[in-house]
Order: sequence, then structure tokens, then C-alpha cells
Amino acid sequence: MALLLIRNDKNYEPWIEALKKADSSITVVTPETVENPDEVTMAVTWKAPQGSFADYPNLKAIGSMGAGVDHLFEDKSLPGDVTLTRVVDEKLASDMQEFVSALCLNHIRNLKVYSALQDHSNWKPTPYRRAKEVCVGILGLGTLGQAVGTMLTNVGFKVTGWSHSKKEIENITSYSQNELDAFLSEAEILVCLLPLTEKTQGILNTELFSKLPKGAYLINVARGGHLVENDLTEALKTGQLSGAALDVFNTEPLPEDHPFWNNKDIIITPHIASMSNAASVSSQIAKNYKRLQKGEELMNTVSHDRGY
Ligand code: GLV
Repeated sequence: MALLLIRNDKNYEPWIEALKKADSSITVVTPETVENPDEVTMAVTWKAPQGSFADYPNLKAIGSMGAGVDHLFEDKSLPGDVTLTRVVDEKLASDMQEFVSALCLNHIRNLKVYSALQDHSNWKPTPYRRAKEVCVGILGLGTLGQAVGTMLTNVGFKVTGWSHSKKEIENITSYSQNELDAFLSEAEILVCLLPLTEKTQGILNTELFSKLPKGAYLINVARGGHLVENDLTEALKTGQLSGAALDVFNTEPLPEDHPFWNNKDIIITPHIASMSNAASVSSQIAKNYKRLQKGEELMNTVSHDRGY
């Protein structure tokens, strides 16, 4: 039996090293080194090229190297009968907590405004708001959404969340599916942490923006596919949104000639909110592989039907 790694960037060394460290008995192969495709029972991937799984007839499980699994479902040849898994990791959660908190505080304390003023040697105090006066709405209360929400309540923000089913989380007001409008009407900062599925594709659009308080701020740390880019540009133009921080894009890297680069209302970061780290997540991948070998249930499974 062997564990197959497939990455679009072919950066295998840190993963092989970390997996071997987690469990030296595991045979780790890549599409380049595999000698006998029949012995591969599990694949762990990040953005595998289309059709990558077709060569492995004995695959029983396919895992994402990150928290997101949309890249798995993009492959139309994904076998329907394999168990799917993702990574749930404390470091991924705490990195996301810190990043979103930084952006929320950056916004209410006008740091981007001062950065622009500094370019013109312009000393210009601007009124600011306090965290306890501001409501942050989190779209998606999964593992990362809950972690971010809890951190934001600790910082002092009022926090609400919207998710498929209502959640019981201390100090967070939870809204479920058909309560989206009520949730949006309060969200002065909207954080997108939804999984990308057919249902959530393009959810950040003009109609949704129009239901937010005027001048709301958007933070997208989920996937570029959630956002209708032209609708954001328009909402910033009309002032319906006062700004946005985007860490994820439809095309990554964001093309050099993309209009977002020159939009002073948008903060652009290169998909770094929370990066899956081989050293940190390899032990759970190794554990899942061992479970598969023993015929045990896998951890952190993903539903084929729901897409997350
Ligand atoms: C990062 O985007 C991840 O899905 O882990």
C-alpha cells in the first residue's frame, strides 16, 4: 500500500519529509516516482490536475492538503466512491483568527487611510470607531468561522454568523439559512468564510451587498469564486461598500493588469490568510492513512453531496 501526493506546484519535499517524520513506515509516492499504481490506496492533494486519479484503480480515500476541498470537486473525474477528507488544524484556525482580526481592526482604526495620507505627508486625524460598537457578520460558521468569531468577540466586536444550521457559540448570534437578510442587515463588516460550492458560487454580489448597512466593509478569505468581481467594483463606486480586503481571487496569482490592483479601496493579499503547513498537518494525514489501512473510519471527512 502507498500514499500518493499530488500537488499542482510539485513542491513535494517538505510533505515527504513531514510524512516520514510523522510515520516512517508509510510508503510515500508522487506521480513522478510511483512504480506500481495498483498499490496506491490514498491520495493527498492540493489542486491536482484534472484526471489525476484515473491511473489508480485501488484508491479508497482522497484528502485535501488544506482546509478547502473545492479543488477536489473541480475534477469531474473525481471517483464517487472514495472517502474524501480535509485538514482541520489548530494552526490553520489561529492563523485565520489573527489575520481577520488584524483586518477588522485595521478597518475601524483607518490604518489604510493613514497609509495613503502618509504618501502625501498629510497629517489628518480621522474619526474612528471602537470594536464594541461594530458588528462583524461571518458568512460560514464552520471550524474556521467559529474560531474567527470567537477571537473577534474576545477583541470586543459584536459578532453574528450565518450558516446552514444554527450554531450554539458563546457570545455569537447565529442565523441559519432563511435568515440571511436579517443577518446581512446588521453586518457592518462582512467576513466570507464559506466553503465554495454550487450554492455559494457568486454569493458576494450586488443583491447581497444591497442588504448590508450602507458603507459596510467586505473581507473575503474563503475563495475567489464567492465574489462577483464587477459587482464589488460597482458597490465601492456607489459607496454601498466602503472598502474590501481580498485574500483570494478567481485567478491566482491575480493578473498584473487586473483592475483591483489600482483600486484604492481594496486591500490585496496573496492567499496568505492561513496557509496549510506540511509540518503541522502531516501527522493527521498519516493517522488517517493508518486508519484506512486498518479499515477504520477516517477523521475530518467531507460529504460528496454537500461539497464540504
Ligand atoms: C487554503 O486556502 C486552504 O483551503 O487550506
